[in-house]
Amino acid sequence: MAVYAIWNNKGGVGKSYLSFQLASEYARQNPSKKVLVVDLCPQANVSSMLLGGMLEGEQRLTEIHSSRPRNTISGYIEDRILSPYMSPNSGAGYVTQVSKYNNRIPNNLYLVVGDEQLEIQASRVTSATFPGPQDAWRIVHIWVRDLIVDIQSSWNDENTCVFIDCNPSFSIYTELALSAADRLLIPFSADGSSKRAVKAVLSLVYGVRRHQGDLQSDFFLESTRYRMVLPKIYMYIGNRLTQMNNSSASAFKTVVNEIGDEIWGVWQSSPQTFFTHPNGAPTPNNRKSFKAMFQYEVNDANTASVVSGALGIPIASLTAGQKNVSDRSITVNQSQLDKQAPNITQLVKNLE
Ligand SMILES: Nc1ncnc2c1ncn2[C@@H]1O[C@H](COP(=O)(O)OP(=O)(O)OP(=O)(O)O)[C@@H](O)[C@H]1O
Ligand SMILES: [Mg+2]
Repeated sequence: MAVYAIWNNKGGVGKSYLSFQLASEYARQNPSKKVLVVDLCPQANVSSMLLGGMLEGEQRLTEIHSSRPRNTISGYIEDRILSPYMSPNSGAGYVTQVSKYNNRIPNNLYLVVGDEQLEIQASRVTSATFPGPQDAWRIVHIWVRDLIVDIQSSWNDENTCVFIDCNPSFSIYTELALSAADRLLIPFSADGSSKRAVKAVLSLVYGVRRHQGDLQSDFFLESTRYRMVLPKIYMYIGNRLTQMNNSSASAFKTVVNEIGDEIWGVWQSSPQTFFTHPNGAPTPNNRKSFKAMFQYEVNDANTASVVSGALGIPIASLTAGQKNVSDRSITVNQSQLDKQAPNITQLVKNLE
């Protein structure tokens, strides 16, 4: 079972959008596997897109939020706040088959629905890490992993691929997501502040220090103390790249390369931080083969992306033409689809 967390410490870089596209496309390419999306962001954006988008998805989200027991991530977290150190094995009760709500999504895609209550629960989750048994920190940090294990065992341990959408903040629920994942996808946008955000990821998760004496995160220190497995970097993804003309393409390239250099530096000093792709390619031994394995790019598809998210139709199955969004007719051009759909298809082929 592969468990991918999609995280960057920076907001708005496309974590939720890519979670939606990648999970849907993965489910389409692998009809015999089960795909699970765990929405660990209180904004619940990926849930909303999967459940049908801006209008219908939001409405369904509201319905699910009023179900009792609450069939969302918060329902499960509530179980764990009541039973912090002993798994209640209740995770399988918190799964929604997405195609029941949105027939644009393959039947094999399942969701643990996101919930804004996560924000309110956060302080109680943190309180559970201390005091308690000696290894309370470790036990609480594997709550989400327990949830995934419960779901997978209810599926008789069938071949499953999991995507966890994260909130940008390095909050307790993001820590739980990272402790549940064995691989990390880092989306970034090609702007000036992205390099700093990627450095923050490297420092917060892997303890990479810029300067001697820099503080390291409790997450890194405690994970190391308890010998917990940290997710390994599987890809860094330049997202929303625009190819309007040669000069903007080269501006994007410069930023992507800068970030690539930063991550290449980590590979050189600690290659064990990375997940070598199980696709038969040899372990990278130079910048070029490193880039070929770990660096991906997803173009901006402009209106097509907006329509895809607003209607909950994955980009690979969206067609060109007039679309109705909020009672307004919007045109999706084939050229927009052609910019992004092949990126997503290709990227997913490189996920295990
Ligand atoms: N490749 C893309 N092409 C066009 N639009 C995109 C692309 N990726 C993301 N977007 C758009 O950019 C906006 C931000 O994306 P998204 O909400 O996925 O970011 P995020 O990282 O999840 O944000 P947050 O940190 O708030 O959770 C959204 O409107 C989304 O539709
Ligand atoms: Mg998001």
